[in-house]
Amino acid sequence: MSHTKLPDNLDSLWLDCHLATMSGPERYGAIKDGALAVKDGRIVWVGPESYLPAGSIERAKETHHLGGAWVTPGLIDCHTHLVYAGSRACEFEMRLMGATYEEIARAGGGIVSTVKAVRAASPDQLYAESAPRLKAMQREGVTTLEIKSGYGLDTANEIKMLKIARRLGIDFPVTVYPTFLGAHALPPEFQGRPDAYVDLLVEEMLPAVASQKLALAVDAFCERIGFSFGQTERILAAAEAHGLKIKLHAEQLSDQKGAQLAARFKALSADHLEYLSQEGVEALAAAGTVAVLLPGAFYFLGETRKPPVEALREAGVPLALATDCNPGSSPTTSPLLMMNMACVLFGLTPAESLAGFTINAARALGLHDRIGILQQGKMADLAVWDINEPAELAYRMGGNPCRLLVKEGAALNI
Ligand code: NIG
Ligand code: FE
Repeated sequence: MSHTKLPDNLDSLWLDCHLATMSGPERYGAIKDGALAVKDGRIVWVGPESYLPAGSIERAKETHHLGGAWVTPGLIDCHTHLVYAGSRACEFEMRLMGATYEEIARAGGGIVSTVKAVRAASPDQLYAESAPRLKAMQREGVTTLEIKSGYGLDTANEIKMLKIARRLGIDFPVTVYPTFLGAHALPPEFQGRPDAYVDLLVEEMLPAVASQKLALAVDAFCERIGFSFGQTERILAAAEAHGLKIKLHAEQLSDQKGAQLAARFKALSADHLEYLSQEGVEALAAAGTVAVLLPGAFYFLGETRKPPVEALREAGVPLALATDCNPGSSPTTSPLLMMNMACVLFGLTPAESLAGFTINAARALGLHDRIGILQQGKMADLAVWDINEPAELAYRMGGNPCRLLVKEGAALNI
């Protein structure tokens, strides 16, 4: 709650609503019958409407009466591969006939088949295929999302992907956090020569991406069908040398000790984590690295091994959630469905699932001083929902109660 004086004039005032502020020790940090004031794109006051200083309405350029809706921080999707071309519906059919994700990848399908589609796509085509996915996310309350490269796997095509991510962030009222994932899979032309590809990545691709400021973070797929511990270590060291943040696909299909490696580099996050060991949990806790859980990929690949949620909780590791939007393991644009799956499949509470798409997702991007929480001084990125209680967000399987999106104080038509 704010006790400070309001500025002389306000850009907007949001009344007759309930707030899930996500701040403080209480679940949701809820304020029933709340109010929120915005100036220059930032929240300048938040609290119970009855505490609003006298004369506030007169000082506001716009007043929005929300009729009892709930307001949350705009959702943050902290792990996506949203820029891609084509689909992998045929692999879905193959998996349903008994082939596994790993078998398909080893036979030259999987990520590499999307690499072929992305390399063949013009920038405009790639943009045209990706933009509707971004719009779908916005309709479900997303105001910030991370987008990874990783389907180019050569300098020119990785740069092509990152430029599309940047263009989406310019054209749409959404903040795009770009991540370089050159180490997503071994490109076909390097078959049998993974170390030579890591040489190219470290010596040419990463310096090109860094010098053009096309990424804020570097990610890698540390896995049997991805990159080994030693190769990942080289890539993360190079990322650190370029001053980039680190994220890691770790322990998705097997325990490669990726979490320990991520922790050693003080990574922002380690993601997936189905095969995370207790040692890995402790390493993440000690490093302050966020655990990003991706229930969509777990569900879609028919996995049975769950991430060690209880151990992560006990160790105090912040839990974030994301869609992992991608054509192979999580073809979804629905954060709300991910919240439902996180509760049903992984045992998160609805409050933890909302924290996973707000405050903890902000931490997973290193943006928690700006977004993910309704608090004075934070950006006025809001989602307004037609629900009676915040648990309804995780409760439904499908359907979309998002009424309105607000980006840096501006109400958007979505
Ligand atoms: O996060 N695990 C690696 N990367 C993606 C899958 C990408 C794909 O199959 O195209 C993931 O699950
Ligand atoms: Fe992923």
